[in-house]
Amino acid sequence: RSGQEEPLKNVLVTGGAGYIGSHVVYTLLKTRQYKVISIDNHHNSLPASLARVSELALEEHKASLGPDTQLSQRDIDSTIIDAYDCDLTNHSAVREIFGKYYSSENRKGGIWGVVHIAAYKAVGESTSIPLTYYQNNVSATISLLSIMLEFDCTRLVYSSSATVYGTPPEVPIPERTRREADSPYGRTKVMCEMVVEDLCESSGNAVADGSTKTPFQAISLRYFNPAGAHPSGKIGEDPRGRPGNLLPLLAHMAVGRVQDPVLKVFGNDYPTVDGTCVRDYLHVLDLAGGHVLALQALQEGSTLNEKVFASVRAGKGKFKAYNLGKGKGMSVLQIVEAMRKATGFEYQTEVVGRRRGDVPALIADPSLARTELGFDAPHDLETMCRDLWNWQKGNPAGYVILQVKF
Ligand code: WQD
Repeated sequence: RSGQEEPLKNVLVTGGAGYIGSHVVYTLLKTRQYKVISIDNHHNSLPASLARVSELALEEHKASLGPDTQLSQRDIDSTIIDAYDCDLTNHSAVREIFGKYYSSENRKGGIWGVVHIAAYKAVGESTSIPLTYYQNNVSATISLLSIMLEFDCTRLVYSSSATVYGTPPEVPIPERTRREADSPYGRTKVMCEMVVEDLCESSGNAVADGSTKTPFQAISLRYFNPAGAHPSGKIGEDPRGRPGNLLPLLAHMAVGRVQDPVLKVFGNDYPTVDGTCVRDYLHVLDLAGGHVLALQALQEGSTLNEKVFASVRAGKGKFKAYNLGKGKGMSVLQIVEAMRKATGFEYQTEVVGRRRGDVPALIADPSLARTELGFDAPHDLETMCRDLWNWQKGNPAGYVILQVKF
C-alpha cells in the first residue's frame, strides 16, 4: 500500500441518495481519493440507499485487502458519507454546510469540488408544473453556484441530459449540436448549462485581468439513458409509484408491482428499425465512472485537465460538455425482448399513440468523451437488464418506507 497519500478531497454530491447519485457516490468511494458529502431532499430517494452504498464500498474494500489486513484510518474515512437531508433551494442551510468544511484562516480543506446531480427530471411532469421545475432545477443551481464562489469552491461536474438536444438535426449527436430543448425540464438543463458557461467565462476573464487567481472550471455531462444497477443488488432505481421510464417499468411489471402489466408502446410509426423509438442506453456504473473522470479532469495541472481544456480559446471559460452514451441505439421492442430474456416474464404489449415530447431516436456520438476523458461504457444491454432484474427481484416492494415527519 502506498506511503504518504494525498489527503482526501472533500466532494459534495447533490442528489447523492438518488439512483444516479448513489452509484456516483459508490464509484467515488471506490477511488479512496474523496471524502463524500451528500445533500439530498429525498423527494425522489431514501436515506437508506446511502447507508447501503457506504456498507458496500467498505465490504468490497475489506475483501480487496484480504482477511487479516487492518483497515487504515483513511480506509474508514473514505467510506463514511456525510449525508445531509436538505433542500438545495434552502440557501442558508446549504451555506451552513459549506461553512462546516471551510477553514477561513488557511482557506484549505473546504469543499474541493461539486457533482451537481439533484434535479427533478420527468419531462411530462415538467409540462404541468414548470415553475416547480425552474425553481428546483435552475434557481437552486444559481444559489449553489453563488455559495460555491463564496467558499472558494471552483470545480463543478454538472449533470445534464441528452434532452438539451430536443429533436436533433443529426444522429448520432455530437456535442456541438445546437441546444433546443422542447420541454420545461429540458430547458432547465439548457439554462443551467448556459449559467455555468457564463460563470466560467467571467471567471476566466477575471483571471486574465488578474482580479482572481483560480478560474471556475466546469464539465457538463449529458446523460443519454442510464439503466441497470450495481450487480450486488444493494442499490438501484427505486421510483415511487408507477415508473415513467421504460426499464424500471418493465422491472416493476416482472416483479408484480404493476396492476395492469400490459406495456403501452408509445407509437410504432417512427422512422426506425421497427417503428418504435430508439434510445442510447448505458449502464449506470459506466455513467458513474464518467463523473470520476470529469472530477479528475478538474484537477489543475493534470494531463487530463490540459487535454480537456486545451481547445478552450484564451478568454473563454473553462467549460466543456460531454455526451455519456454508448453510441448504440436500441428500440423499445428490442428493450422489451432483452428484459423478457433477463426476467423470464412474458410481457404483453399494446401499441398506443405517441407520447408528447418523444423524439424518434437519441443516440450519442461518444467520441469526444472517449478521446478527451478516456470515457468508456463497456457494459452491454444484457448486463444492464440482468443487473436491473437482480436489484428489482431483491427489492420487490422497493425501499419505500413510510417516512413519518413529526
Ligand atoms: C424510453 C422509450 C418511450 C415508457 C427519459 C427522460 C430523459 C432522461 C432519461 C433525465 C421512449 C418508450 C416508455 C412506456 C414506452 N431523464 N416508452 N412505453 O424518454 O428516452 O428519457 O429518461 O435526464 O430526460 O425523458 O426514457 O424510459 O421514458 O422512454 O413506449 O410505458 O420508451 O416512448 O421512446 P426517455 P423513457
